[in-house]
Amino acid sequence: MACNPAFRRILITGAAGNLGAYLREALADAAAVLRLSDRRPLAARAAHEEVAAGELADFAAVEAMMTGVDAVLHFGGIPEEDSWDNILAANIRGSYHIWEAARRAGVKRVIFASSNHAIGMYPRTQRLDTDAPPRPDTLYGLSKAFGEQLARYYFDKHGIEAVCLRIGSCFPEPRDERMLATWMSYADLARLCRRCLEAPVVDCTVVYGVSANARLWWDNSKVDFLGYRPEDSAEFYAEKVRAGGGRFTPPDPAALFHGGHFVPIGYTRQR
Ligand SMILES: NC(=O)c1ccc[n+]([C@@H]2O[C@H](COP(=O)([O-])OP(=O)(O)OC[C@H]3O[C@@H](n4cnc5c(N)ncnc54)[C@H](O)[C@@H]3O)[C@@H](O)[C@H]2O)c1
Repeated sequence: MACNPAFRRILITGAAGNLGAYLREALADAAAVLRLSDRRPLAARAAHEEVAAGELADFAAVEAMMTGVDAVLHFGGIPEEDSWDNILAANIRGSYHIWEAARRAGVKRVIFASSNHAIGMYPRTQRLDTDAPPRPDTLYGLSKAFGEQLARYYFDKHGIEAVCLRIGSCFPEPRDERMLATWMSYADLARLCRRCLEAPVVDCTVVYGVSANARLWWDNSKVDFLGYRPEDSAEFYAEKVRAGGGRFTPPDPAALFHGGHFVPIGYTRQR
């Protein structure tokens, strides 16, 4: 089914990355034109594709890539913990540039690749729904929390609709025990992005990017209106994961909090 026909040109940032490259194929019919952007080299491969390469930290470049765009899938940026300077440039300045350029260009909707690391410091004993405020586990998670607040600010003040995807672990297969709860298949990511584009009204919404895993920690019931129906489950890989090890045991903070192995990075708290 084609996506919201109101979107004629969709910008995908991070289009040379793992998830962006997958979405470029999976959402080929999402709009008349897919504009692909990254700081790494890219080339158009089909009539519906065009390229606008650029550095997210450079506002002029972001403004140029936003011309004529009516929806954005913002997947560009650093996908893990890094230095403050790198996180500041790519994820914080970069995301601000996306929303500010979107406002100036009259963009209607931004779909933002947030992360479970925006809520990584919640204890695992707590199940979270989509109203859970951020508790970031890293500078990276903090940058995603900032992106979620950009979404809120630009919706409340300027009416740009947004969906923030708190993506769990989006890889071809779950690789450890934690991912049996947090995994999202590539196909489910595409299903979710499609619903975020197709839903007639999304206002400013947070949704967890996860498959239909039996061991889920996150509850999307409050955003059922999006119509996201995951079809894959990490449980299919449970035996393989168990055989491969990859288990953290308390009191390792990686085992105590939602953020897993991001939590021990720079962790100095004694109690
Ligand atoms: N893969 C996951 O499980 C997962 C989980 C949670 C969130 N996310 C988020 O999803 C997005 C995509 O993740 P991915 O796994 O495809 O990562 P990736 O590193 O493969 O892709 C990110 C892309 O962004 C580009 N990029 C980075 N900094 C840039 C800059 N300053 N200017 C322009 N382009 C820049 C990179 O060149 C890269 O191609 C990221 O925002 C990440 O934080 C991913």
